[in-house]
Amino acid sequence: MGWSVDDRSWERLRNAAVRVAQSAYAPYSGLRVGAAALVVDRPDAEGRTTGDEPWMVVGCNVENASYGLALCAECGLVSSLHAQGGGRLLAFACVDADGRPLAPCGRCRQLLYEHGGPDLLVATADGVRRLAELLPGAFGPLDLPDPPRPPEPAAAAGTDPSPVAATPSPGAGAT
Ligand code: THU
Repeated sequence: MGWSVDDRSWERLRNAAVRVAQSAYAPYSGLRVGAAALVVDRPDAEGRTTGDEPWMVVGCNVENASYGLALCAECGLVSSLHAQGGGRLLAFACVDADGRPLAPCGRCRQLLYEHGGPDLLVATADGVRRLAELLPGAFGPLDLPDPPRPPEPAAAAGTDPSPVAATPSPGAGAT
């Protein structure tokens, strides 16, 4: 199904990205990054896409004392996408903590391509661009020699609502 993204939806995406940037763990670069995306085409148990309304996923960057291990905000967003049952990224925004748009890094453009394809709409400092413009001539799943396998049906999308009891084990917290 074709979806259009109106100004209000872009504003909601940017606001969500600014909010999640506050949760970033960025003690090394000092750059808190928030990413938010609208998602469509959640697969049902048989792998068929459902006609659900678009929903939102977010992510923030998480750095590491071993600098090269930093996870970009897009990594968290894509993980959240799958944790919530999967789907196709339709529109994407990435900002710093002050709401300034940030260009997704090269690696993350590839990551976004996998889950949004060339038609993913990306908010940039120069307006909305298709991902195909930001990653021309992209390598993707269809370039692999074997036909890509259909995505695994999501066994149980979302989180288990049943309560989980947790008690501290003896000695926990002891120094
Ligand atoms: N960063 C992102 O989260 N996404 C990008 O697309 C560009 C870079 C983060 C990684 C690192 O924590 C910080 O920005 C500085 O590079």
